[in-house]
Amino acid sequence: MKDEHSWHFVAVEEHRVIGCVVLFPIDSEGHKAQLMQMAVESELQGKGIGKLLVNELLKFCNTQGIKEVVCHSRENAVQFYLQMGFEVYDEPFVEVGIPHSHMRLFL
Ligand SMILES: CC(C)(COP(=O)(O)OP(=O)(O)OC[C@H]1O[C@@H](n2cnc3c(N)ncnc32)[C@H](O)[C@@H]1OP(=O)(O)O)[C@@H](O)C(=O)NCCC(=O)NCCS
Repeated sequence: MKDEHSWHFVAVEEHRVIGCVVLFPIDSEGHKAQLMQMAVESELQGKGIGKLLVNELLKFCNTQGIKEVVCHSRENAVQFYLQMGFEVYDEPFVEVGIPHSHMRLFL
């Protein structure tokens, strides 16, 4: 999905991908991008891998002049993004049958 127009970040351990996140530009000026497909392998969650991935993504945004990152967060991940500096905005919504919140971070 949107792969060719996105940046892909992966966490790798011993030649195995154990975490990933995708960044997709969503405005013509290149100032706003959407964080998508964030996931860490289930048995490795809670060890700081997600935080490392998002921190690298945000560092990359700074090098690209991206000023705002938005994401559709599943309810179970809202706390994770809050800890990464994101805030909730607008009303909650349902996507693929799962409750989500709009979240954003200004750089
Ligand atoms: C959400 C997810 C990507 C977080 O990755 P992770 O590697 O487990 O997170 P980290 O270990 O880097 O956690 C970073 C911080 O967020 C907190 N955190 C992580 N997941 C959390 C959760 N579900 N609820 C509350 N806090 C959470 C951690 O306690 C940690 O806090 P600390 O820095 O004070 O210790 C991962 O749990 C996951 O893949 N979940 C299933 C898929 C999913 O829901 N993806 C998000 C779709 S929007």
